[in-house]
Amino acid sequence: MLVLGIETSCDETAAAIVRDGREIVSSVIASQIATHERFGGVVPELASREHLDKIVPIVEEAFVRAKIGTESIDGLAVTVGPGLVGSLLVGVSYAKAMAFALKKPLVGVNHIEGHIYSVAFENPPVEYPALALIVSGGHTNLFHIPEPGKYKVLARTRDDAAGEAFDKVAKMLGLGYPGGPIIERLAREGNPRAVKFAIPRMGDGLPDFSFSGLKTAVTKHARESGLQPVTNGGVPSQGIKDLAASFQSVVVSSLVGTMERVAKEYRPRTLIVAGGVACNGALRAAASDAAKRLGVRVYFPSLHLSTDNAAMIAAAGTVKLQAGESADLDLNADVTLRLQNIDLEDEARKRAGVRYRL
Ligand code: KG4
Ligand code: ZN
Repeated sequence: MLVLGIETSCDETAAAIVRDGREIVSSVIASQIATHERFGGVVPELASREHLDKIVPIVEEAFVRAKIGTESIDGLAVTVGPGLVGSLLVGVSYAKAMAFALKKPLVGVNHIEGHIYSVAFENPPVEYPALALIVSGGHTNLFHIPEPGKYKVLARTRDDAAGEAFDKVAKMLGLGYPGGPIIERLAREGNPRAVKFAIPRMGDGLPDFSFSGLKTAVTKHARESGLQPVTNGGVPSQGIKDLAASFQSVVVSSLVGTMERVAKEYRPRTLIVAGGVACNGALRAAASDAAKRLGVRVYFPSLHLSTDNAAMIAAAGTVKLQAGESADLDLNADVTLRLQNIDLEDEARKRAGVRYRL
C-alpha cells in the first residue's frame, strides 16, 4: 500500500510517500528555522503563511522523488492535531482537496501518534506492550501501548515540554534557536556534574515531568555566578558549557528515570523514544542503558525522522487505511487533540485536582 503523508502542524512543511507503513519511498521536509530563528521561537502567523507557500511544491517534490504519479497512491494521511491551528489547516485543506480530486481515501493522524510510528522505519517491528516516551518542542508524554492503536498517558509535563526547556535555556544564554542541538553540542565540552540541579519530582507522587523550575534554576545560577549570555555568535565560556551539560544531564535523568520507574510496573517488551529531543545523544545513551537494565529492547527513530516529518504520519495513517478507515470531507484540524483512548476514567480519577497547561 502506497500512502502520501502530509505534515504541517508546526514549523515544518513535509510530504512523504511510504510503502506498507515501513519503507520510505520519498520524504521531503522544508524547515522554517530560518524564518523563526531571529524571534527565538515559532511565530504562528508566519508559520501558516510559509506552509501556504510551500505545500504545493513540497508535495509535488515528494512525487517527483518517488518517480510516481499521483494516481499511484492508495490513500492519504494528514496531521489533524495537536499543533498550531493556522498551520494544521493548510495541510488538512490541501489533503482533503487532493483526496477528493483523486477519489482516494484520507485519514487524519494525531501528530503524537505519528512520532510513535517514526520508529517503524529502520527498526524491527514493535513488540507489544510498548512504552513510548515522546519528547519534542511541544510535548513530553509517556504512553503505555498495550496493543497497536491503544494509548494511555502515564506521565506528562505539568508546564514546559522538554524541547521547550532546551529552547528557552538556550535563548536565555544567548545561544540561538532551536536550542536542543546547540546545548547538546556545548554539553559535550562541559562537565555535567559542575552545577547540582535537583531532579524535579511531583509532590503528589505521580510520575509527571516539570521543567519550568529547572529553567528558573539555570537562570538563577547564570545570574549568581556572573555568566554572561553569548552575544552575536561569540564563543561560549567554559561556565556556559558546564551549565549546558548540567542542565542536559538533569533533563535526561528526569526523562529516563521516570521511564524506567514506570517500565518496572508496566513491563513493556519494547521502549520507544521519539520526537525532536530524541535526537539527543545523551538521552539515547541513557535510555539504552535503562533498556539493558530492564532487559527490553529500545527503538529510536533515525535522526532525520526524530524531528517533524511526513513519513511518520504516513506510517501511522497506513494502519488506519489498512483497517478500512476513511475520513469524510468535514475532517477538521483539532488543536488540542489527545491521544489517550483507554482507561479514561481511571486517568481522570488519578489526576483529579492536577492542573495542566495544554
Ligand atoms: O518534534 P519536533 O521537531 O517538533 C515538535 O513537534 O515540537 O521537536 C523540536 C524540538 C525543539 O525544541 C528542539 O530544541 C528539540 O526538539 N531538539 C533537541 C535536539 N534536537 C532537537 N533537543 C535536545 N537535543 C537535541 N539534539
Ligand atoms: Zn513533533
